[in-house]
Amino acid sequence: MNITELHMREYLNIPIGLRPLHMWRCYMLKNHPGLLVIRNPFTFTGQRYWIARSLRDYPLAPNIVNLDAKHFSSNTVSDWWRELHKCTEKSIAHRLKTSMRWTTLGYHYNWDTKAYDEAMHTLFPIDLFSLSQYFAYVLGFPNYIPQAGIINYYPIGTCLSGHTDHSELNHEAPLFSYSFGQTAIFLIGQNTQEEQPSALFLRSGDVLTMSRESRLCYHAVPRVMKTQKEPWNDFLTIPQWKSKEFFNNSMNFELYDQVTDTCFWMPFNRYIADSRININVRQVFSSDDCL
Ligand code: SIN
Repeated sequence: MNITELHMREYLNIPIGLRPLHMWRCYMLKNHPGLLVIRNPFTFTGQRYWIARSLRDYPLAPNIVNLDAKHFSSNTVSDWWRELHKCTEKSIAHRLKTSMRWTTLGYHYNWDTKAYDEAMHTLFPIDLFSLSQYFAYVLGFPNYIPQAGIINYYPIGTCLSGHTDHSELNHEAPLFSYSFGQTAIFLIGQNTQEEQPSALFLRSGDVLTMSRESRLCYHAVPRVMKTQKEPWNDFLTIPQWKSKEFFNNSMNFELYDQVTDTCFWMPFNRYIADSRININVRQVFSSDDCL
C-alpha cells in the first residue's frame, strides 16, 4: 500500500473488488475534455459482485423498474430476478429476461417529465455510494455525493439512442458509468447533434466519467456485441485483495464470497453471457444543499 492509498483509507472506505491504484490505466480523449475512461480496475470477484447486485438486489422494490403492473405480475415488478429464476417456461423466461431495461435508485428519474422528483426518493445503496465516492476522490472530486443511480440492462441487440444528461441541477459533479458484461460501442459527441461523435469500446469493468465540458455532451450506445473475453470469469490473471484489512463495511460480504461459488454464480453467468449492464451514478443537487 502506498502513501496515497494509506491517506485514502483514513478518509474513505476503499471498496473491495478493485485492483490497487498503481495498476489502473486511465485515458482521456483529446477532443473531449472531461471525459475519462479507466480500463477495468475491477478484480474478477469485484465484477461478479456488481453484476449480482445489479440483477438480484437493485431491482427490488421500493426501487423503481421499467416493468409495469399492466404487463407483469406484481411479484415480477417487485422482485424480477426471483421471478425470472422461478420460471420454467422458456419463452416466458426469455420475455422476462429481455423486458427488464432499467432500475432507478436514490432520487428517481422521471422519464416522462425528464426531471428528478424530490418526493420520489429511496435509499441510495451504500456500497454503490462508497464505490462512487472512492472513484470521485481518486479523480479529484472529494465532495462528490452520489444521489441517483440508473442501472441500464442491455440484452445483445438493444441500444440507447443519443441524448444528454442535463436533468441534474448540479452539472459540476461528474457522472460515473460502470460497464459490465458484453461490450458496447459508445458514441460521444459535443453539445449539439451536428458534430461528428467519437466512438470507443466500453468493455466489462470499464469506468467512464463525464465531467466539465463533456458532462452535457450527446452520447449514445448504438450497439452491444459479444465480447471476446469474459473478465468476470478470469480467476487467474487478477490478484485478489481478500485480506480483512481491505474490508469495507458498506459492502455485502456474504454476496462477495458467494459469487465465487460456481453454483451460486450460474444464473448470473447465464444472464451476462449475452447481456450488458451499465450502472450510471449522478449527483443531482449541489453539495451545499445536502449538508
Ligand atoms: C446512459 O447514457 O445513460 C448509459 C450509457 C451506457 O450504457 O454506457
